[in-house]
Amino acid sequence: MTTMVMTGGTSGFGMITAQRLKGGNARVILGARRPESALDTFPLELTELDSVRGFAAAVRAELGDTPIDALVLNAGLISPDADSRTADGFETTFAVNHLAHYLLLRLLLPALAQDAIVTLTTSGTHDPATKASLVTPRHADAELLAHPDRDPDRNPKASKAGQHAYTASKLCAVLTVRALTERHPQLTALAYDPGQVFGTGLAKDLALPLRIAWTVLGTPAGWPVRRFSPTLNTRTAAGNTLADLVFRLQTAPDGHTYAALRRGELAWIDPSVPARDDKLAQTLWADSARLVGLPD
Ligand SMILES: NC(=O)c1ccc[n+]([C@@H]2O[C@H](COP(=O)([O-])OP(=O)(O)OC[C@H]3O[C@@H](n4cnc5c(N)ncnc54)[C@H](OP(=O)(O)O)[C@@H]3O)[C@@H](O)[C@H]2O)c1
Repeated sequence: MTTMVMTGGTSGFGMITAQRLKGGNARVILGARRPESALDTFPLELTELDSVRGFAAAVRAELGDTPIDALVLNAGLISPDADSRTADGFETTFAVNHLAHYLLLRLLLPALAQDAIVTLTTSGTHDPATKASLVTPRHADAELLAHPDRDPDRNPKASKAGQHAYTASKLCAVLTVRALTERHPQLTALAYDPGQVFGTGLAKDLALPLRIAWTVLGTPAGWPVRRFSPTLNTRTAAGNTLADLVFRLQTAPDGHTYAALRRGELAWIDPSVPARDDKLAQTLWADSARLVGLPD
């Protein structure tokens, strides 16, 4: 039996992934803020770094010497602005999507199997080439993303600043995979871009019109829109493809770490230009370490 640890398996397409993983003779430990009866759930609130530390310690105590074969870091959110702060004083979207997952990765690294797979869920919105409707990242400066009020070029419009927090956090996910690959080449590290998946809970904190569109487009009524856009995928396709990657039913061609779901099929495309910058990746790694109180 293989051992897997996952975040973001309680709703959205991650719930489909978690169920697939569980059905594949794996022990799946889910980090979640609410219990999921079908799986081993340990408490994890990603807005609190102490909760991340507690979760990592609980997982390691539970598993003892049993190594983790797969670490699936899928949880995420988008906020309507960049104004909310976590218990640790960091901007919430960046803190949940990047910092908390970075800390979890660092704390569980020593418990990973030699040839473990690590996936981080990113988003095509990090890349201007995707032409998504969200503001694209201006930088991946951890200090400024943690404290956007210190960013001299912060967009004065709250919703745009919120979009930037999201897309920049997803750029950070791709860069973290890049840095991890360089530091631990024996691991398989992948950034998973599920395309656009309507009907999940992701839009629940956004303005009402966006929430309605998000919900309706996720139903069969949204099929005509989904049909003509290459980036739109169903929850089922997005969830199952992530499970396929974790089970290594689909594997990366040499040199590729960015798996993008387009029209329901995996495409091993290049992420954005900054997302391929090794120096930026290592700087982000070191700056993130400092923010969570770890050595580089
Ligand atoms: N939907 C899209 O179009 C899309 C596109 C690109 C990337 N993504 C990414 O895909 C991932 C899954 O998104 P989704 O669309 O399936 O969204 P979703 O339905 O909102 O699912 C998000 C998951 O993250 C968990 N989560 C959120 N905040 C958390 C916190 N503070 N502590 C612990 N867990 C937390 C949620 O837990 P609860 O069940 O407790 O809420 C849920 O399991 C995210 O990383 C998202 O950014 C989504």
